[in-house]
Parts: sequence; structure tokens; C-alpha cells
Amino acid sequence: MDKVKQYGDDVFILGIESSCDDTAAAVIRNGKLLANIVSNQSIHKAFGGVVPELASRAHQQNIVPAVHQALEKAGITKHDISAVAFTRGPGLMGSLLVGSSFSKAFSLAMGIPLIEVNHMQGHVLAHFIDKEKDKAPQFPFLCLTVSGGHTQIVLVKGHFEMEVIGETIDDAAGEAFDKAAKIMGLPYPGGPLIDKFAKEGDPRAFRFPHPHAEGLNFSFSGLKTAFLYFINDNMRKDEMFVEHRKADICASIQSTIIDILIDKLKKACEQTGIRMVAIAGGVSANSGLRAALTDTSAKLGWDLHIPPFEFCTDNAAMIAIAGYYKYLRGEFATQDITPLARYSINSGT
Ligand code: KG4
Ligand code: ZN
Repeated sequence: MDKVKQYGDDVFILGIESSCDDTAAAVIRNGKLLANIVSNQSIHKAFGGVVPELASRAHQQNIVPAVHQALEKAGITKHDISAVAFTRGPGLMGSLLVGSSFSKAFSLAMGIPLIEVNHMQGHVLAHFIDKEKDKAPQFPFLCLTVSGGHTQIVLVKGHFEMEVIGETIDDAAGEAFDKAAKIMGLPYPGGPLIDKFAKEGDPRAFRFPHPHAEGLNFSFSGLKTAFLYFINDNMRKDEMFVEHRKADICASIQSTIIDILIDKLKKACEQTGIRMVAIAGGVSANSGLRAALTDTSAKLGWDLHIPPFEFCTDNAAMIAIAGYYKYLRGEFATQDITPLARYSINSGT
């Protein structure tokens, strides 16, 4: 697709995100957000986790209405769109296929360029939405990307030049939150609930181990096992233990996860000498993590960038902004592009 539509100086990008269980569509004009629609799929709650086939079916139902809503909110029509950007991966194959097929068809029908976006790069680039150049993080910076499937420290050298310098060797931080919540009998996704209950609790009420991982890597699976034994042991003594101590348990497990994350982020700053620090991904919505990072950065003199809540969890605005930068570079995809269930954030792979 080599024909690039120009409307004066305005570039309108339609962003499509469908990697997991949220169907999202967004419109940005010249890097400024006009609409950001997210259709959450509540169907997975009953199953305690995302059921891939149900997610694909719900995406299929939600995608056209989500795009309609986004265009309406943006106050434009589909004819105004300059290019469509979609999440190529990583994610659930069935879910990705819905977004990528829609985007290919839209690009073909409207005669506009198609742009593929790496979901994790999108999370990082959310920091550039609505930002004047001097307010966005300056390159190079370190980004702690913490989501349901990823926990990485990323060295961000440019918009699309990213290098993972540390990552989890087992569970992701979001998974640690969700699994701890499941052990406590809380519904999926448990991360936001742990955050909510933790606000009323004492983070020093209970102590949990910090599993060891080499260098800048993370490990959370030992913590999950320790937490399971802790809950089971206490429930044997008092079957209402979780109910009675919910806030303290949530505050304690949350603060352990936060300590593990911040500990490695500090190491990464020491090793690289970089003090420009950002966070991204669903877990960056955690209020305890946001507060602890603000404290740490005040002590250590970091220039800290925390995204607004709406850009932390999965959204299409981050896909649209990544698409915008690719549009400016003329980096377009062709119709034979396929989604990737696994897709490294590192450039070129
Ligand atoms: O980035 P995201 O929306 O989807 C993925 O790409 O995985 O991240 C979802 C993860 C889930 O594990 C969810 O429990 C977690 O982010 N999460 C939170 C909070 N909000 C979302 N974890 C802790 N505290 C929160 N407030
Ligand atoms: Zn995500």
C-alpha cells in the first residue's frame, strides 16, 4: 500500500487492539487522542481466567461497534482516516486474528496504509500520547513493563529501538497478582482487587519470600507457592482467615511484589547509569507501585514517568500512537502479514 492520504497537515490513525480479552479502538490526530474505546469482556469472570475461544468470539462481536463508537467520539468518518494500525502480537492467536483481519479489510476497502504494532512496544509508547516533546520521556530511558504476560526491564533507545535487559524467568507480575487473588478466592482479574483491598491493610502484617533470580531477571513462581501454603496453613486454623485478614494479606503480598520489582529496577539504573525511568502495562495501574516508585525516584533523583490509568491496561490509543510514529517513517505492512502469538519487544525480531 503506497498511497498515503493527506488531509492538510492532519494525520488520523485508527488503532485496533485485540490481543487478549479487551476489544479496543482509538483515533488519534497528529499524536493527540480523540477517542479511546475499550469493550471489556466480562464473560471470562465465571471461568477464573481468559478463555481464548470465548475471547475470539467476543472480539468478533465487539470490533465493529467499538470502531463505530471511536469514529463517532472523534467526530470524524472512516473516510478521514489516514492509516489503520493493529496489534500484530504477542497475544492469543484467535483474538489477534480478529483485529488483524478487520484492519487488513479496512485498509483494503479504504485504500489506506496498514501498520503493524508490537503490543509491548505499544505499552511503552503510551508515554508519548498527548505529550509535547519535552514532557515525554527522553531517550534512552528504562521502562519497567509489567502486564499479565510480561515482566521486563526494557532499555528504550528510540521509538522502535528497544532491548530487554531483564525479564521474568517464570510468572509475570500480573500473573502473580492474579494467582494470589485466585488463591484467596477472588474473581479474575484479581490484580485490581488486591490493589483495592490493600489500601486498607498493613503491608508489614505478613512476610513473604523474595525468590532469587540472576542479574536483572525476576522470578515470581516461588512466591506463588509460598503464598498458597501460607493461605492453606492459616485456613486450617481459621476457615475465615482470608475474610478476617483480607486487607492485610492483600497489602502484604502487594508490597512483596512491588519490592521485587523496584529492587531490580534500582539495579538496572545503577548498572546503566540511566535515571530516566518509566513504567508501562496493566500492573503499572497499581496504586501501591505508583506510590512506591514516586518515593524511590524522589530519593534517587530519577525522572519518573507514570502513564495515566487509561493507558496502563490494554487500550488502542497505545497502538494508534505507535502507528502514528510508523506512519511518519512510512513503515507500512502488506496484506500478507500474519499475527504473531509470540513477538519480542526487541527491535527487528
Ligand atoms: O497490560 P494488560 O492490561 O494486559 C496484558 O497485556 O496482559 O495487563 C493485565 C494485568 C492483569 O494481570 C491484571 O491483574 C493486572 O494487569 N492489573 C493490575 C492492576 N490493574 C491491572 N495489577 C495490580 N494492580 C492493579 N491496579
Ligand atoms: Zn497489555
